[in-house]
Formats: sequence, structure tokens, C-alpha cells
Amino acid sequence: MLAVWVFALVLLSSLQVETKFKSLHCANYDESLGKILLCRIKAINRYRNSISIQFRQLKTVNNVHMRLELFKRANGWRPFLYNISFNLCDFLSKRNNLIVSLGYEYLKPYIPITNYTCPFKKNHLIKCTDLEFDIEKFRVRFPIESGEYALQLSFIVQRKVTLTLNGSLEYRNYRER
Ligand SMILES: *[C@@H]1O[C@H](CO)[C@@H](O)[C@H](O)[C@H]1NC(C)=O
Ligand SMILES: *[C@@H]1O[C@H](CO)[C@@H](O)[C@H](O)[C@H]1NC(C)=O
Ligand SMILES: *[C@@H]1O[C@H](CO)[C@@H](O)[C@H](O)[C@H]1NC(C)=O
Repeated sequence: MLAVWVFALVLLSSLQVETKFKSLHCANYDESLGKILLCRIKAINRYRNSISIQFRQLKTVNNVHMRLELFKRANGWRPFLYNISFNLCDFLSKRNNLIVSLGYEYLKPYIPITNYTCPFKKNHLIKCTDLEFDIEKFRVRFPIESGEYALQLSFIVQRKVTLTLNGSLEYRNYRER
């Protein structure tokens, strides 16, 4: 009996990978362009949670640049792997960036909009609902160690940062121990 229990425990811990969102900040620097309606983390259970964001577009914008920055926590946040700037409108019509495509394909099912292209129209509600993070989808491409990671997305319109979304998550891979 004990042997079975120990075996089950070993098996379980060898499979144990945990990822949870730890923080989420949405900052709007131009209230005339849009409004953040929702920005929150919701617990699903002790081990899982999800994030939801809603943004109401108040003006039509034709050209949006985006910056994507990754951080890893080590005595404060340190830049990690990627710091990419790109034209979001070009990307949406041409899919001209491999790394961004990877993230985009992952996010797409959580962002139900009818036309994934520019311009972003006035009154459009852009929402991301109950996004969970499945690290296994990324682990196959990148070596990811246990730790805390953050992603900051900045939207840039006419050379000004108008909106930033930044979220962090904690990743525990017990197989490393
Ligand atoms: C990313 O690049 C931009 C522009 O070069 C820079 O201003 C910013 O500080 C960089 N971010 C990180 C995390 O290094
Ligand atoms: C959807 O995107 C296509 C391709 O850019 C564009 O031609 C079309 O006008 C858009 N439709 C709407 C309803 O915005
Ligand atoms: C995310 O935003 C918050 C609030 O502005 C800030 O305290 C935190 O340092 C940011 N995180 C990163 C990784 O930049």
C-alpha cells in the first residue's frame, strides 16, 4: 500500500508543472483613444487562474505600433530574451514576424473579433476572456526554467505610448529539482 502511495507521489511530482498569473496592470495614457473596462485576474482553483481584459475603442486608429518586452525576475525585473517593436497593422495583414505569430496564434482563440485587421474602429470592444497560460505550448520551443516572468505590451500611436498591459506569471517545474 505504502509502495503504491510512494509510487503515485513520485509519478505525480514528476508531472507537476504549475503556472499561475501573479500580477496584471493595465495603464491607459490616452483616455481620448479608448477606455479600459476590465483588467483582472480570476482564480479558477488553487493551482489555476486566468486573466480577462476589455478595452473600448473611442477613436478609429489606422496605424498602431507595438512593443513586446519580456522580463525575468532576478533581483528586480531583468530584460529576458525578447524586446521586439513592430507595426501591428503590418503584422496583422502580413504575419511578418515569427515570434509574434507564435504568441498571436496562442491568443487568438481568446480574442473573438470579426476582422483581425486595421483600422481599429471606433466603439469596437476588444476583449480577451479567461486567458489561461499553457506553458507546455511554449516550452517545446524555448527552454524555460522555474521562475517569475513578466510580459509588457505597449501600444504606440503617433510615437506615443497610449496603453500598456503588463502581467507576470510564476512558473514552477518540479522536474528540475
Ligand atoms: C526595449 O527597447 C526599447 C527601445 O530600444 C527601450 O527603450 C527599452 O528600454 C527596452 N526594454 C528593455 C526591457 O530592455
Ligand atoms: C476586413 O478586413 C479586410 C482586409 O483588410 C478589409 O478589406 C475589409 O474591409 C474589412 N471588413 C470590415 C467589416 O472592416
Ligand atoms: C508593470 O507595471 C507595474 C505598474 O506600473 C510596475 O510596477 C511593474 O514594474 C511593471 N512590470 C514590469 C515587468 O515592467
